[in-house]
Amino acid sequence: MECGTGSWEIQRNDMAVNERGIREALKVVLDPELKKSLLDLGMIRDISVEEGQVSLSLALTTAKCPRKDDIVDEIKRVLGRLPGVSGVNIKLSTLNREELTQLFPKHPLVGLEKVRHVLAVASGKGGVGKTTIAINVALALAGKGLRIGLLDADVYGPSVPVMLAIEGSPEEENKTIIPIEKFGLRVMSLGMITEKGQPIVWRGPLVSKAIKQLLGEVMWGELDYLVVDLPPGTGDPSITIAQSIPNASILMVTTPQEVALADVRRAIDLFKKFEMGIVGLVENMSYFSQDSSGKPIAIFGRGGGEKLSREFGLPLLGKIPIELEIGKGGDSGIPLMISSPNSETGRIFQGIAEKILSAAR
Ligand SMILES: Nc1ncnc2c1ncn2[C@@H]1O[C@H](COP(=O)(O)OP(=O)(O)OP(=O)(O)O)[C@@H](O)[C@H]1O
Ligand SMILES: [Mg+2]
Repeated sequence: MECGTGSWEIQRNDMAVNERGIREALKVVLDPELKKSLLDLGMIRDISVEEGQVSLSLALTTAKCPRKDDIVDEIKRVLGRLPGVSGVNIKLSTLNREELTQLFPKHPLVGLEKVRHVLAVASGKGGVGKTTIAINVALALAGKGLRIGLLDADVYGPSVPVMLAIEGSPEEENKTIIPIEKFGLRVMSLGMITEKGQPIVWRGPLVSKAIKQLLGEVMWGELDYLVVDLPPGTGDPSITIAQSIPNASILMVTTPQEVALADVRRAIDLFKKFEMGIVGLVENMSYFSQDSSGKPIAIFGRGGGEKLSREFGLPLLGKIPIELEIGKGGDSGIPLMISSPNSETGRIFQGIAEKILSAAR
């Protein structure tokens, strides 16, 4: 048979595209997070074809779907290749609450369903730089191309919103909370849902409820890591949180001085008692580097991290110096891993992220 242009033209016109053909072609278009066909999920509706013009509606799980444009482009690309299709119109909408519960008895993007690892940053005592480490490690992991969430679970003093200069509160949609995107992280904090400047009085059951909400009702979506900034100490909240996250591994933050070690030891013992895996230790405020002489000064003494590492057989993943940039970053809302990711300290954070990743392999 001849394959000339003429016969091709006839073939094209003969292949009037219909709804069945469209459905067949759309089978390959998957929801990027759920990895299931949009058709099977019931998210593509009202398909019609008129003189080569395809119209359909796309009902998303959330209007804020970050991959909205990718999905639309993919549908257009797949349908655009079909002979006889001259254009594609897509009307966007969202699944309503009933449809969501019908499609997913438990919403697959809410809660920890699609979160591969949880890394909880803990310390025995306050003020050692736990939040600073949580934020910069989260950013270092994101810098490796991973999808990262950051949950500020510090019920006493949620400071992530200040340290990342996040204003406003997260939106709610269909009774689920949508995290705020900042520096590529999906961020959620108790500080975003409580009144600014209001003291937070947390009693046991309240804490437990708030944490369960933050873990279970937030639309975390698909994440490689959810980094959790735990409250300081070994009190009720840390235990509640630690127990309510299945398979969370702990990153312990310490400072070098001997007096800090007793609290960290107690915390490590506690996590061990609850059979929680500890990925390693980070020593913060390890030394202060002077610009000119370059000689590091051990302001808070030295050796704490190494000592704990030996005692508990835990790897020391990195030592972070005292650095003006870190202190300034905490106040300005621009963390070191954003302002200078390739500085000497930035590279230490990158090294910590690499070790966390290789421990998970
Ligand atoms: N390596 C560092 N160099 C300079 N400043 C630092 C360093 N680490 C932390 N800081 C600063 O110390 C202060 C306390 O740090 P951070 O809030 O991270 O500690 P924390 O352990 O989370 O405290 P809390 O127990 O109150 O939650 C912040 O102002 C922070 O910017
Ligand atoms: Mg903190």
